[in-house]
Amino acid sequence: MKYNKCIGTRDVLPEESIIWEYVAQKLRDISYLYGFGEIRTPTFEHAEVFIHSVGDTSDIVTKEMYLFNDKSDRSLVLKPEGTAGIVRAYIENHFHVKPKPVKLFYMDAFFRYERPQKGRFREFHQYGVELFGSKEPSSDAEVISLCFHILSELGFKELLLELNSIGCNVCRPPYREQLIAFLQDHQAHLCEDCNKRMDKNPLRVLDCKKPQCKKAVQDAPRIDENLCPVCDEHYTQLQQLLNDLQIPYKKNPWLVRGLDYYQQTVFEVLSSDLGSQSALLGGGRYDGLAEILGGPHTPAIGFAMGLERLIMLIQQFKNWDHLRPLSPVAYIAHEGFSTLSQAMKIAGLLRAQAIAVEMDLECKGIKKGLEVAIKKGAAYAILLGSEEMEQGTVTLKNLSSRNQQSCKVNDLIPTIQQHLEEHHDISKS
Ligand code: HAM
Repeated sequence: MKYNKCIGTRDVLPEESIIWEYVAQKLRDISYLYGFGEIRTPTFEHAEVFIHSVGDTSDIVTKEMYLFNDKSDRSLVLKPEGTAGIVRAYIENHFHVKPKPVKLFYMDAFFRYERPQKGRFREFHQYGVELFGSKEPSSDAEVISLCFHILSELGFKELLLELNSIGCNVCRPPYREQLIAFLQDHQAHLCEDCNKRMDKNPLRVLDCKKPQCKKAVQDAPRIDENLCPVCDEHYTQLQQLLNDLQIPYKKNPWLVRGLDYYQQTVFEVLSSDLGSQSALLGGGRYDGLAEILGGPHTPAIGFAMGLERLIMLIQQFKNWDHLRPLSPVAYIAHEGFSTLSQAMKIAGLLRAQAIAVEMDLECKGIKKGLEVAIKKGAAYAILLGSEEMEQGTVTLKNLSSRNQQSCKVNDLIPTIQQHLEEHHDISKS
């Protein structure tokens, strides 16, 4: 019986893993520059953590959660997003008594039962940040700056931030009523899904991607024109800060995002190279979420970017040849079982000096070993016969020049290191 991977999952192979590792390191380094510490929360949580926060009318909760009962009949979910679990952890670990703002970042796998397509998977990875304890627009600007710092460090040039404010508990209810009245008048032009969500979650109709709905809401009342004075000032100040920081953005009054916990600021960074799944990252402010999950009132803002999408894009415009090649520096080809232990000892010596080395573990002999060394793209073959073993020597063969020299085992490391330095100098000049 042969098995395939599950639909919507991916195998990341070594050539691509190197890029993931590089990106992860950059994300960590930049997070630390801004004072964010890494948090790791469990892969599964109680279902209520997401149902009460992401929203019981959201696509994630109604259609996409990997929901199951464990053997003790607890209702659990493979986490579909990071924010709710981190707020749960923030409360449970009493982070609210720490000096504010508390800044956390994460890199993790998430699970959504979505229809797979380019850039959309059922298991995917996000890097995200959450900043707790400040309601000031400067925190929104700080988080957005961090996101642009990352994108520019990774080589992105022309990405645009879409920005909106979706108000708060004061200004959203009257706006909602206005919007429902408008949508009822235009009901006939809306898709089936929007007709269903119109009464329960009318704001979601605004960012439906279907052309007929986009057209129907063109003249709908705008949330950014119906903000209360507090939200209006917050939004204006944020825009002022982004202007001062020269972060390019476009106001999109129809941007509402698909998770119910947001209020005031919401934003996304889009890329046309991603096809129909164009959001590279999304985030916003969620000042009411900690209370919903049983904690104290805690203003907070964050964002998450999809790592599959990020890596897909940077592979298109960045050359990755400079990253550590997967080929070994040296390959040890030896005579047979009698030379095996010595070959393993030599491999150990080289590895202790951070020289990547592989060897013939199957004792296939020097000729076969040499062939493998060439196929694996090793820079050097180390040839070890029984006579050489007795004399404490090896033959070091440079596989590009084909030159070879006899070398005492003790001199092997400095000789290889010298070769590598010379090679490095030549390739630099
Ligand atoms: P989200 O917009 O649902 O927000 O996801 C953020 C990013 O994750 C998306 O922009 C996309 O790049 C990636 N993503 C989402 N679903 C998939 C999928 N099925 N396959 C591949 N990539 C995907 C959140 O998750 C919020 N928790 C973000 C946040 C953090 N808001 C505040 N703090």
